[in-house]
Amino acid sequence: MDLGFGGEVADLYHRYRRGYPSGSIGACVDAFSLNGDDLVIDLGCGTGQLATPIASQVRAVIGVDPEPDMLARARSAAQDQGVAKVAWMVGSDSDLPLLRSLLGEQSVGAVTIGQALHWMDHEALFAAVDPLLRPGGGVMVVANGIPLWLQDSDWSRALREWLSDWLGAGPANSCGTDDATQQRYRQSLMTNGFEVSKVELDYADELDFDHLLGGIYSALPVDRLPAPEERPQLAAELQEVLRPHRPYVEQVPVRALLGTKVA
Ligand SMILES: C[S@@+](CC[C@H](N)C(=O)[O-])C[C@H]1O[C@@H](n2cnc3c(N)ncnc32)[C@H](O)[C@@H]1O
Repeated sequence: MDLGFGGEVADLYHRYRRGYPSGSIGACVDAFSLNGDDLVIDLGCGTGQLATPIASQVRAVIGVDPEPDMLARARSAAQDQGVAKVAWMVGSDSDLPLLRSLLGEQSVGAVTIGQALHWMDHEALFAAVDPLLRPGGGVMVVANGIPLWLQDSDWSRALREWLSDWLGAGPANSCGTDDATQQRYRQSLMTNGFEVSKVELDYADELDFDHLLGGIYSALPVDRLPAPEERPQLAAELQEVLRPHRPYVEQVPVRALLGTKVA
């Protein structure tokens, strides 16, 4: 199934999406005592924002994603950073049993899922992941901020309104970052026998208009992106709407759920 992450969206994602703060990588390393002998699987790895920085802490990472364009961008970004310890694999959450047989007796220190669990069957995933993990290893689910159109600020409210005029419906999707969804993930991890802790990191950062617009485009399915010739006009309109609400300060609440496999 084409989820719209291909083509230009992969590039937009790479250019405009935030990386993960080092504290979230550190939280994963600490919670599961990751070390140079460990393998990590990053499911829904996209352009590698999580997989690539984790690689420096472990033996190797397997980045898994159904979208080849995301993986191609991830591979070239990792190469640019001199990171060679990630294998990029076309696949999805339903491939965990296959990964299990590919790895044989080798278990992994962690399965990480950054900003992608809302695309997966989390109940089936949490139920299937245990045999892959070594004792003390676990699952990290991270929400990397909240969407630009759901911020509690005047510029974000104006953006919401403009987007609903443009797209014909108010964007409501929180991409799994809201409290109720986080609570569901936590409960499901516990039901499947994991000991769960949560790490919260909050920061704020000012966006320039280019990053604000690029961030919005990166969240659209590729077939909803405006044609290149329409973009200057759209950008001018949006800039006009948002200008009175500068500066565009984005609040970035990062929430990591850490489910440790109980021996
Ligand atoms: C919002 S992006 C997140 C990318 C990356 N983890 C990050 O944090 O920047 C969601 C990713 O999940 C992938 N995805 C969608 N459905 C999936 C599935 N069923 N299994 C694994 N990945 C999936 C998409 O192709 C996309 O690259």
